[in-house]
Amino acid sequence: MKLLVLLLIAEISISFGLEFHCEFKFSQNYGLIGSVYQCKTSNPNFGLSDPVLYKISGNPTTGFTHRDVKLVEIDGAENLIYIPQDMSNPGLFPNLIALKMSNTGLKHLSGTQLNDYRNLMWLSLSYNQIIEVPDNFFQFTTNLRFIDFNSNSISIVGFDALSPINHQTLVYVGFKNNTCIDKEYSPMDGNFYSFLYDLQYDCQFIETTPIPTTSILPPTEPPTYPPPTFIPTNPTPSTTASPNCQNVDIGEEVCKLNHEIRNLAQVIEKRDQVFQKYEDVLLYVQETLKNINKLLNNKFSLTGFSD
Ligand SMILES: *[C@@H]1O[C@H](CO)[C@@H](O)[C@H](O)[C@H]1NC(C)=O
Repeated sequence: MKLLVLLLIAEISISFGLEFHCEFKFSQNYGLIGSVYQCKTSNPNFGLSDPVLYKISGNPTTGFTHRDVKLVEIDGAENLIYIPQDMSNPGLFPNLIALKMSNTGLKHLSGTQLNDYRNLMWLSLSYNQIIEVPDNFFQFTTNLRFIDFNSNSISIVGFDALSPINHQTLVYVGFKNNTCIDKEYSPMDGNFYSFLYDLQYDCQFIETTPIPTTSILPPTEPPTYPPPTFIPTNPTPSTTASPNCQNVDIGEEVCKLNHEIRNLAQVIEKRDQVFQKYEDVLLYVQETLKNINKLLNNKFSLTGFSD
């Protein structure tokens, strides 16, 4: 019984989301946000795949609480593959304005990951595994003034990714040491639009993997199709009775042509197991026949085809 309870407790603590053990302290001076009270953690307990932070532990400095934390820093959690959610919950870090994640497994970003970070001014995601910054990534964080993506593996940045952010208040955007770009922006050193142009130009196109000249795979034979004999030069004997084209008012030639077409279509119809693109052939023939029928003012009705 005791064991069962223990197992249950273990199960419950695993199935919840993230738990941070915080080292509470004042951060180094991070420029824009200065030196702020922070929670630094390197060993979050993980929920299986639940990215919600539900519990924090650690000893806040006398006179401070977790509510005073403005910066959360996660460093070296290699198995952490998402941005923790619900961190600014009133019971956790309601005054959060800065997030720093580095040396984690963060690789994929999405447009909803910053949903809970609407007051964020400062975001550093340098030294992770990020490969793409999607268009809507900053849709909820329009007050960001410092953005650092340096030293990731980014090869695509959405064309409008930076659009939601007021660039006049931006103090830094870093995309140094990435796959598609190695540049940063600060108002002192450059023009925002020329930086944006480079970012859009360099990181818009998906690089196609070059096809190796020597392959370890066996050479693929071109697919073999039966020879294109579906238009017989000598149409197989007709299965329909020879037409009586003598007294039709559309003319004997047209009557015969129509008969030949009907034969041809029947030949094709019988070969549906042979021709892989049979539907295309039949469709084409059907269209052709319809057009001919129209031309003949519907005086001569073709039989043997479903519409
Ligand atoms: C560049 O980024 C890679 C990770 O993508 C990192 O390992 C390397 O240390 C970075 N180089 C510098 C100079 O920061």
